[in-house]
Amino acid sequence: MKGKEEIIPEKEPQRQYYFIEMARKLREEKEREIKRPLTFHVTTFGCQMNARDSEKLEGILKAIGYTYEEKEEEADLVLFNTCTIRDNADQKVYGRLGYLHGKNHYRKDRIIALCGCMMQEVTAVEKIKKSYSFVNIIFGTHNVYKLAELLCIQAAQGNMVIDILDGTDLIVEDIPNSRKYPFKSGINIMYGCNNFCTYCIVPYVRGRERSRPSKDIIREIERLAEDGVREIMLLGQNVNSYGKGIKDELSFSKLLKEAERVEGIERIRFMTSHPKDLSDELIEVMRDSDKICRHIHLPLQSGSDKILKRMNRSYTRQQYIDLALKIRREIPDIAITTDIIVGFPGETKEDVDDTLDVMEKVRYDGAFTFIYSKRSNTPAATMPDQVTKEQNRVQFDRVLKKVQEISKEMAQKRTGNIEKVLVEEISDHDAGFVSGRLSSNLVVHFEGSESLIGQIVDVRLDECRNFYYIGKRV
Ligand code: SAH
Ligand code: SF4
Ligand code: F3S
Repeated sequence: MKGKEEIIPEKEPQRQYYFIEMARKLREEKEREIKRPLTFHVTTFGCQMNARDSEKLEGILKAIGYTYEEKEEEADLVLFNTCTIRDNADQKVYGRLGYLHGKNHYRKDRIIALCGCMMQEVTAVEKIKKSYSFVNIIFGTHNVYKLAELLCIQAAQGNMVIDILDGTDLIVEDIPNSRKYPFKSGINIMYGCNNFCTYCIVPYVRGRERSRPSKDIIREIERLAEDGVREIMLLGQNVNSYGKGIKDELSFSKLLKEAERVEGIERIRFMTSHPKDLSDELIEVMRDSDKICRHIHLPLQSGSDKILKRMNRSYTRQQYIDLALKIRREIPDIAITTDIIVGFPGETKEDVDDTLDVMEKVRYDGAFTFIYSKRSNTPAATMPDQVTKEQNRVQFDRVLKKVQEISKEMAQKRTGNIEKVLVEEISDHDAGFVSGRLSSNLVVHFEGSESLIGQIVDVRLDECRNFYYIGKRV
């Protein structure tokens, strides 16, 4: 590409539109040669942040003119948007790579690209360079918007292209993006994390906390509403610290109030709330709102003060319990869900007893439970008293049993209620049924047809099947 450099725009996003055009021409050339459309498949691992990034990646690929292929192994371009929160997330990626390169699925002309959190880890990239050298493109979390440029570089050079930034202050907006659902969308309100919980790799792979300007966020919500979106989810690792440290920026609760004013938006969700930064103002704003959903995800991690301290979570069990009960008092119909880690270094049976005790008191509507996974270079990785597999298994089972018992009981309480459901899709189990979610995030299946998708309808909750309902439209 030398010699043409002076005409390549330096500013983003103009630069990427230039490369999208170039990649489009390359695709057209290739399609003429092979006499069929070139296809892509994006496989996403990890959290809502990655899901949102994948929508941007798909948007770029569609703008280039690639055709979506449902089956990963049959696509001409396979992109893995990776996660590295626990070791099993890494193992899944290696497994998929091995599968694609195995003798039944190998294809010489396939392009394999990897991006996302796992690629921000030097050891993972080294391993891929060594053992999976057939991978064509590797990029990270800070330059998702650059996919078209990297595809062009790869086409020109033919070898493995690696582009990973340690961090960035740049937030590139207005890149094409392709929503999975026409009626709901995630919106990043901030990137990165500054909390450094001692077990967690996110601050290392996603960088420092950066809030987007509220006026950009509101403009994006307005555009989504004009485009038919009815439910939005504001995304950040710790949404409660939105805007902190930025002069004249809104707080998270003020941002929610602004979002509420956008006409056409009927439901507002957010993820994730760190208990240490949850303000009384937020509880009030939620309580007084018709649009903010009756659900809060409030990760506990552990109910033991000793473990919470070692985790650097910055709250005590009593502070957490008081907060959760205050939320329940102010907003009685709210669902509270959580994340719990079992087997953090130094955790004993008594510490797990404390976790079970918090669960009894807060009565979670749902919980994700994880076995602690050692992440390299995090402080917890070198702490003494790493817990054995056997102890983890026993303690994990205790926690899981309690989660199931309580969330079943919480779900059952809604039997007979008539509640609003946003219909999302045709049910997996029965084509005559549709599935959707309550404001509390609980899933409901009821008889209905495709025409209901994207609508908010009243449904009577007839039969609780542990973690979901069978209902009837009324
Ligand atoms: N920012 C969010 C969490 C994002 S990660 C928050 O602080 O609430 C999602 C969940 O993964 C965490 O809540 C935690 O329960 C779990 N997790 C993170 N690191 C982990 C590790 N090393 N081992 C096991 N679980 C982990
Ligand atoms: Fe990880 Fe803690 Fe940040 Fe959540 S708040 S992403 S658990 S460091
Ligand atoms: Fe995983 Fe990265 Fe999310 S590590 S959980 S995809 S922020």
